[in-house]
Amino acid sequence: MTPAIRPLTEADLDAALALSTAAGWNQTIADWRVFLRDGRAWGIEADGALASSAAILPFGPKVAWVSMVLTLPDQRGRGFATALMAHALAALAASGHRAVLDATPLGQPVYAKLGFAAFWTFRRWRIEASGGAVQGVRPLRPGDWPELLTLDTEASGVPRERLLRALAARLPEVARVAVAGGRVEGFALARDGRLVPQIGPVIARDGRSAQRLIAAALAALPAGQSVVIDLADTRTELAAWLAGRGAVPQRPFTRMAVGVEPLPGDAALIVAPIGPEFG
Ligand SMILES: CC(C)(COP(=O)(O)OP(=O)(O)OC[C@H]1O[C@@H](n2cnc3c(N)ncnc32)[C@H](O)[C@@H]1OP(=O)(O)O)[C@@H](O)C(=O)NCCC(=O)NCCS
Repeated sequence: MTPAIRPLTEADLDAALALSTAAGWNQTIADWRVFLRDGRAWGIEADGALASSAAILPFGPKVAWVSMVLTLPDQRGRGFATALMAHALAALAASGHRAVLDATPLGQPVYAKLGFAAFWTFRRWRIEASGGAVQGVRPLRPGDWPELLTLDTEASGVPRERLLRALAARLPEVARVAVAGGRVEGFALARDGRLVPQIGPVIARDGRSAQRLIAAALAALPAGQSVVIDLADTRTELAAWLAGRGAVPQRPFTRMAVGVEPLPGDAALIVAPIGPEFG
């Protein structure tokens, strides 16, 4: 029997957080609210509780992120995630959006069966913040936003202003820009998390700016504070540098999309995504 799917609302926020918490994820209520406010989320109930979820977040008229695909551990293998994904994909097909997502190893086979192809990979690293002066990077100023957003749109291929501003406002003292010749060559934002803060996105035109941005963001957090960053696997030099600072790899993700056409944007500029839930 096909399980009943219903939209999630503000009244479901605590149950939704319980779902992501049961999976050990880092999202807060504020993260879940983004999907309810700017996207759509659905759930399936079982045994009197919210047992499974999926959410979509459109970025402009053509691309949408698929996120928060979760099933309570004791309700898995009953087809809930597959049913919710089919529902989400039907909604996106109706609105003409292409579905993109970042898959965990558990999610990847579910998405592959639904026609998603893999594009590139990244990895979560956990590291302790430590101080130190960093050249060529300064705190983000309000006047940097137009240039920052131009760079972000080049990297992501989609408009993300509303999301980036909302996330940056959660840890504004960490946001940094790399400036060369009076131009913004890169930026790093950060936000709080249920378990630890996360640095991301980090978008930069060159590796030196990328390293400086991460170092400066780490220096802006309290020394000894654990933090995570999702680093593109192509960034082997940065990974070695992070490992040299004591960073430990946590888990892998794969960026996937329906269809094999190239992804929007320019992945070469993406040092670290926002995180798998937001792209
Ligand atoms: C990934 C996840 C959402 C799948 O949820 P689910 O409701 O169990 O998924 P489904 O029941 O629709 O199963 C999808 C496929 O995985 C298989 N599967 C799921 N759980 C399984 C289990 N415990 N043992 C064996 N197979 C399992 C199903 O058999 C199904 O394969 P099929 O289509 O060949 O039958 C769930 O494992 C989960 O919440 N994991 C932690 C969070 C996560 O990683 N989410 C994905 C984010 S990208």
